[in-house]
Amino acid sequence: MSKKIFSGVQPTGNLHLGNYLGAIKNFVELQNKKENQCIFCVVDLHAITVKQDPRELKKNIRETAATFIACGIDPAQSIIFNQSMVSAHSEAAWILSCVSRIGWLNRMTQFKEKAGKDKEKASIGLYSYPVLMAADILLYDASHVPVGDDQKQHLELCRDIAQKFNNDFTAPDFLKVPEPLIQKQFSRIMSLKDGIKKMSKSDPSDLSRINLTDNKEKILNKVKKAKTDTLPLPKEAKDLANRPEAENLLRIYSSLKNQNLENSINEFNEKNFSTFKEKLSEALTETIEPISKEIKKLLNDEKYLDTILLEGSVKADKIASKKIKEIKELVGF
Ligand code: TYM
Repeated sequence: MSKKIFSGVQPTGNLHLGNYLGAIKNFVELQNKKENQCIFCVVDLHAITVKQDPRELKKNIRETAATFIACGIDPAQSIIFNQSMVSAHSEAAWILSCVSRIGWLNRMTQFKEKAGKDKEKASIGLYSYPVLMAADILLYDASHVPVGDDQKQHLELCRDIAQKFNNDFTAPDFLKVPEPLIQKQFSRIMSLKDGIKKMSKSDPSDLSRINLTDNKEKILNKVKKAKTDTLPLPKEAKDLANRPEAENLLRIYSSLKNQNLENSINEFNEKNFSTFKEKLSEALTETIEPISKEIKKLLNDEKYLDTILLEGSVKADKIASKKIKEIKELVGF
């Protein structure tokens, strides 16, 4: 059955292995099922919920588009665009924010993490960010949304918003309630320096993540320095309990090799970490190096990237402007 896929990535620099294995790799697989219609968005409106340097932001928007293409998203097959070029996203976000309840947003754990101790100083945009995310998805009647585990709660909120809108305006099934697509074993890639912390763009230590722009030398160095423990690799999955670093590295390896965790455990059955790290470095280099080279090549052609985003936004706007017109009609404008 064909699916309507929508997903987004923030252009905040340092796109990393977690973004790739948790989300972008899945985007490519979904796109390659020809019957699916896919839309991938560089969510620049989301990026400004925290302060951005305008010149860096422009650069990061192009870099995110380049990353999509370098990872295998084909602009001839999928729509690639940036959110700020399609005004319906902002309009829908406002209307949906009037449907959403403060109590719902107060439960969002990502806001609590991102705002930190001083919530009073966080931007209003950071707080209402999941409503904009709902607008992104609902404007395109997306049936499925591929994301990493950290976006699960935002998708549940999106479903609640859609249902409440349909209810409030007596328009059953008008906003399509989307299904999350979360890769079971690889939905949460952890830091290379701390197996209980998510791999993240904002970690001050570059050694905590493999960036999609890293070259072979950097990858080897980061794997070498990745935290492990003193035991050999496990014999069985249950031996991974309380060994978050070993588990994370084995998960990364499994995802890169397109095999499940159990297969990797069997492959390295009680071997030592140095043998495993060699194989992990190989697998990482094999996947990441071509991506990183392609990103660099694409970044030399800003005109090409701008054209892709412009053409994508024209296509996206066609869909979104029709939907926002219907939304406004229902609201009574
Ligand atoms: P963002 O830009 O933080 O992350 C992009 C995608 O990468 C996934 N991800 C991870 N997956 C596994 N392990 C990790 N360590 C890891 N870190 C990040 C995220 O789950 C995400 O899928 N709010 C979204 C962007 C967004 C969006 C949307 C997504 C805006 N509108 C509509 C889907 C649909 C975000 O900030 O993702």
